[in-house]
Amino acid sequence: MMDKSSDMPSANSAHLYERALKVLPGGNTRTTVFFKPHPLYAQKGDGCRVTDVDGTVRIDAINNFTSLIHGYNHPDINAAITGQLASGMCFGLPTEAEISLAELLCDRVESVEQVRFMNSGTEAVMTAIKSARAYTGRPMIAKCEGSYHGTYDFAEISEGASPDRWGDRDRPHAVASSLGTPQGVLSDVLVLPFNDIEVSEKLLLEHAERLACILIDPMPNRVGLIQASPDYLAMLRRVADKTGSLLIFDEIIAFRLGYSGAQGAISVKPDLTTFGKIIGGGFPVGALGGNADIMAVFDPRPGKPSVPHGGTFTANPMTMVAGQVAMQLLTRESFVQLQSLGDQLQGGIEATFKAQGIEGQVTGSGSLRRIHFGTARLRDYRSSYADAAKQRRMSALHQAMLRNGVLMAPTGLTALSTAMTPDDITQIVDAFAKSLASSSVAAS
Ligand SMILES: Cc1ncc(COP(=O)(O)O)c(C=O)c1O
Repeated sequence: MMDKSSDMPSANSAHLYERALKVLPGGNTRTTVFFKPHPLYAQKGDGCRVTDVDGTVRIDAINNFTSLIHGYNHPDINAAITGQLASGMCFGLPTEAEISLAELLCDRVESVEQVRFMNSGTEAVMTAIKSARAYTGRPMIAKCEGSYHGTYDFAEISEGASPDRWGDRDRPHAVASSLGTPQGVLSDVLVLPFNDIEVSEKLLLEHAERLACILIDPMPNRVGLIQASPDYLAMLRRVADKTGSLLIFDEIIAFRLGYSGAQGAISVKPDLTTFGKIIGGGFPVGALGGNADIMAVFDPRPGKPSVPHGGTFTANPMTMVAGQVAMQLLTRESFVQLQSLGDQLQGGIEATFKAQGIEGQVTGSGSLRRIHFGTARLRDYRSSYADAAKQRRMSALHQAMLRNGVLMAPTGLTALSTAMTPDDITQIVDAFAKSLASSSVAAS
């Protein structure tokens, strides 16, 4: 049965959404998975394919917003989870599994000597900021305009600032993401223009005495999935050292980029790194890593630590064993495979834009790529900002991709998995060609 409004079989999803509307605000409990007229509800996943409740099978090119790097139903991850399930899902005691996953992260990431686990990336960023404040005794954080770091009050400032509120480029306003954010939060966040060395350095030095940390994602999705330039990162490192503040890399998505994460390919090293997504093997997770001197803020041996931190499900062994196996499966060769799939996807999409005479481009690297309409050079949040017309086109593309058998993010973000083959990428590119040609997408 077809749902008239979306022209694809979705009667069962429509029915679930009707039910959801009664008990969930707007029928939704996770903004990122909402789209109009209603979301499609998942039934099951296998490899790189997801089946919705109306029985339509699609290639999953978003992988739970980048977290499922091996797709669904990997036998080794499943075996680890079912093995742990039989021994206990969680305990009021630590388990060996948390030590093993921490050892793996310390082995892979040079800047990480010790790790603290959490249950989400939001918590990881929040805890990183609290550690930086405790370690430096200062209140302020600096972050780049547009960059998303989860929903902690301070971290979400200016993550989606609109042109009427973002202020001067040389001094971006700190824009609240949620209504009612206290003024005190806004005045403790310094917003930097991404990749603008001169302006960012000037702003940072102006606030040197209050600055606890500089938080940066080396390839922030909401800034357009553009890489931070090596010179920009070097400036941030220099300023952090000069001002005695901490440099924090948010690798919650970017850890997907290489065997040692994004920082494996960057000469600048952070003081602290936040992790999430792939390190949980499909389960909820977050982690914070850094050198032992800073991580001592959590050490309970002297009494109450400088940063008390617990969490009922923190380091639960289900997440820990799934994460360890998922990470072990990610060999250096896996990253070569993912890079090649990503390059194939990008090449195919760029060639399709060209062949159809439509202006568009692709940003990103490795297994992360993002489709944009327009060909203007993207260098920061403002140049990547999609106006209402571009948003409508992207939404039409997203819907058309769903009709043509591909699930991607409504923003044009794609995240590939090791479960994919070059044939799957060809299928995504073919779906893109059909979708782009449809009149609602082609119209500007
Ligand atoms: C860079 C970055 N930081 C933090 C977060 C928050 O992670 P979580 O959704 O697990 O809270 C996200 C989530 O997408 C992210 O992309």
